[in-house]
Amino acid sequence: MTILAPKLGELRRLNKGTEVIMERNTFHDLRTFLAYLKKNGQVQEINTRVDKTWEVGAICRENLDRDGPALIFNHVDDFRTPLVVGVLSTVQRYAAALRVPAKTSAFVEIWRNAYSNPIKPVQVQNAPCKEVKAVDIDLLRDPFPVPIWHPLDAGPELGTLHAVITKDPETGWTNLGTYRNEIFNKNTVGCYVAPNRHIGLHWHKWKKLGKPMPAAIAIGLAPTLCMTAVSAVPADVSEYDVAGGLQGSPIEVVEAETSDLLVPAHAEIIIEGEIPIDEFWPEEAPFGEFTGYMGMKRYDSQFMNVRCVTHRRDPYFQGTHEGRPPSESTMLRCVGRSAAMYEHLKRAGIPGILDVCVTPGSCAGFHCVVAIEKRYPGHVRDVFGHVWGQPTLFCKHVTVVDPDIDPWNPVQVEWATSTRVQADRDVEIVKGGKSIALDPSQVPSLRGLSALMGVDATKPLDEYARDKTEEFPASTDPLPESVARVRERWREYGFI
Ligand SMILES: Cc1cc2nc3c(=O)[nH]c(=O)nc-3n(C[C@H](O)[C@H](O)[C@H](O)COP(=O)(O)O)c2cc1C
Repeated sequence: MTILAPKLGELRRLNKGTEVIMERNTFHDLRTFLAYLKKNGQVQEINTRVDKTWEVGAICRENLDRDGPALIFNHVDDFRTPLVVGVLSTVQRYAAALRVPAKTSAFVEIWRNAYSNPIKPVQVQNAPCKEVKAVDIDLLRDPFPVPIWHPLDAGPELGTLHAVITKDPETGWTNLGTYRNEIFNKNTVGCYVAPNRHIGLHWHKWKKLGKPMPAAIAIGLAPTLCMTAVSAVPADVSEYDVAGGLQGSPIEVVEAETSDLLVPAHAEIIIEGEIPIDEFWPEEAPFGEFTGYMGMKRYDSQFMNVRCVTHRRDPYFQGTHEGRPPSESTMLRCVGRSAAMYEHLKRAGIPGILDVCVTPGSCAGFHCVVAIEKRYPGHVRDVFGHVWGQPTLFCKHVTVVDPDIDPWNPVQVEWATSTRVQADRDVEIVKGGKSIALDPSQVPSLRGLSALMGVDATKPLDEYARDKTEEFPASTDPLPESVARVRERWREYGFI
């Protein structure tokens, strides 16, 4: 994935210029975004009949590796419903969805703005997602073209880029999260919940009440809902509010048919049901994971009894091909999780945090780079500890860099690591840290535990001071004022 590197100066300018971001008019559903992408040549419609068990996944993988367009499969086996994949898999399309420049600095800015200025959803009475009430649906046959995404998957995965919606029975907090849904039979789907997920917090409260948990699966979503459902939005904060903040207008919601859950009014498909509190499905998965490897089978897994399906007239079925980077999933999680980690460090009160990137190359999960203005002895270690302590992420590797390094630029980060780090002085290793079992570098008997590594890639200024011989060497870069003048005169030199 090509992530365009912002200059920190640019970032600061954007921070001051939030009015650019507030004036956006973004897309309230998948269709309007698809129409925009079509108009701009960013969609490939595939009208050839394709096989859902091997061909869809292979086309998606090839298309991701080519940095290709969004795909609409119009003829998956004999299904009439089109399958939409990859609408948000590139920096350009992510930017288009938010109507901001295709620069990570603009993404960072708009996410920070959404956290600071969330917008609550509004409830409507008539919703497109209820245009058709489907009766006697057999999810294995009809009407949605659910692929076997990877050759070794246990079954078709209905939910890959979607939201499972649940409510905290005590506080009313509505959570939206992307938790996959393998189809087990005509009206039962899995709901895989990794440890620490917010849906799990809700489930435990429903269990205490002794009642099954109402849940709704929303598929075919406005881009901002896809972005927030995968992005570690803090507990007790609804993804609806942050998505509204990203969108610049409230998300429209409607009451579900079988519960008081509020579901996105403009979703393509809503599948409602209940997740039992005292029954589990014996076996779920394996499924091709975001790490690029097959995950393991899960035993005694949560599942949902489907009670009702509604959808728009002629709906689109949306999904994504999980796997190694580059992928749509990495693109989405990288931006959203970087914003979530920034927010976490800010809420923890750590000073001097300038920018954060949960890197695409680490599957948007395992490595976090933080740029700081170092203010006190031990500051870098404080950052390590708080990154490791973020409750729902699992950034086992943390690199802390100075303000002159852009955390989104892997070459700059490696330059800092190469020229400012002595491993015996600047690398901290902590054994037995929190991780996820999907990290294949762990041997099976230690799954879920990981060694944590913190790399202090800031200039060793204090160490130089203690050495009292020389100062840390000066940079070879031109003076900032010279760069500024050269930029002003750039066209005069004949550059376009
Ligand atoms: C394509 C995709 C599929 C995902 N599948 C799952 C899943 O099956 N189970 C899970 O716990 N997390 C899954 N995740 C990660 C969660 O969606 C993500 O951590 C999100 O922040 C969870 O919401 P929560 O923070 O409200 O719990 C997936 C992410 C993506 C991008």
